[in-house]
Amino acid sequence: MIRFDGRVAVVTGAGAGLGREHALLLASRGAKVVVNDLGGSVSGEGGNSSAADKVVAEIKAAGGEAVANYDSVATREGGAAIIQTALDNFGRIDILICNAGVLRDKSFAKADLDDFEFVFGVHYFGTLYCAHAAWKHMNAQGFGRIVFTTSIAGTSGNFGQSNYGSAKLGMVGLMNTLAIEGQKNNVKVNCISPGALTRMTGNLGMDEDFMEKLKPGLVSPAVAYLCSEECDVSGATITAAAGGFGRVHMFETRGVQFDPAKGVTIEQVAERFDDITDLTRADPCTPGAEGKIQERLDSLAR
Ligand code: NAI
Repeated sequence: MIRFDGRVAVVTGAGAGLGREHALLLASRGAKVVVNDLGGSVSGEGGNSSAADKVVAEIKAAGGEAVANYDSVATREGGAAIIQTALDNFGRIDILICNAGVLRDKSFAKADLDDFEFVFGVHYFGTLYCAHAAWKHMNAQGFGRIVFTTSIAGTSGNFGQSNYGSAKLGMVGLMNTLAIEGQKNNVKVNCISPGALTRMTGNLGMDEDFMEKLKPGLVSPAVAYLCSEECDVSGATITAAAGGFGRVHMFETRGVQFDPAKGVTIEQVAERFDDITDLTRADPCTPGAEGKIQERLDSLAR
């Protein structure tokens, strides 16, 4: 059985929806949990302590250990205070699940730049501030598990979600580099791309039978696995919805190589554009700056 005894976890936005399920599952398997939530509306207005308090009470009632934190992830001070809550109450930080989120959907034609900054503040910067505050502790102790919460709105796009989707994909970029930098100290950083019926998705007008299957608790086992000692993967984006799981990844096509010594014309690119973009000949992107450059140059010699 995979357990988290002796581990200390922070779950942001854990007062409701997915975060609550993640917190309850980790606590039920022995983790001490900081339940962070500022308790605002879906669009991020207002706040109260009852959301986090309720989940702490649920965990305690089930025999687990938890403490509440009501700071916003969206400020540097908030991110630092959330991690400090784990250190002050439980003496360490092993697991960080960045889950807090808000929605301010509008088509790009009607986009309000204040909404962009607000949504980036919670999703991208909120993730960054918490990860930054936890990073040195995890690296120093030689163990850390971090899960960011991305979305199909970022990996594939969704009408009306330009602010949310771009913030969500930004954290995948952050993960890619942190996965490389954390490797030597056993700090693994992954993303979850969930699908679940919560107050956030409740008003999206999807088919009711379909929404019924989207129980938030069906996402948490994947998140918990990514937080476990047993997990050896870093830099992966795992999709989880309705009991189905998969992986999202960037690919680069094999593409086309012209002779660099002879130069390349616009017409050559136009002529071979179908081959350049042919996704049936593609490989997963790998870390590092070289990408496929050398591989394609080598293909010239063959
Ligand atoms: P939810 O609205 O039930 O939960 C989000 C929680 O984050 C709320 O309790 C809220 O109070 C808290 N929160 C918001 N701003 C905060 C801040 N600045 N500091 C601390 N806490 C804050 O929504 P849900 O669906 O559980 O979403 C959880 C995460 O999953 C979000 O990041 C969301 O974008 C993401 N997500 C959800 C999907 C779904 O199908 N439900 C799909 C893709 C991503």
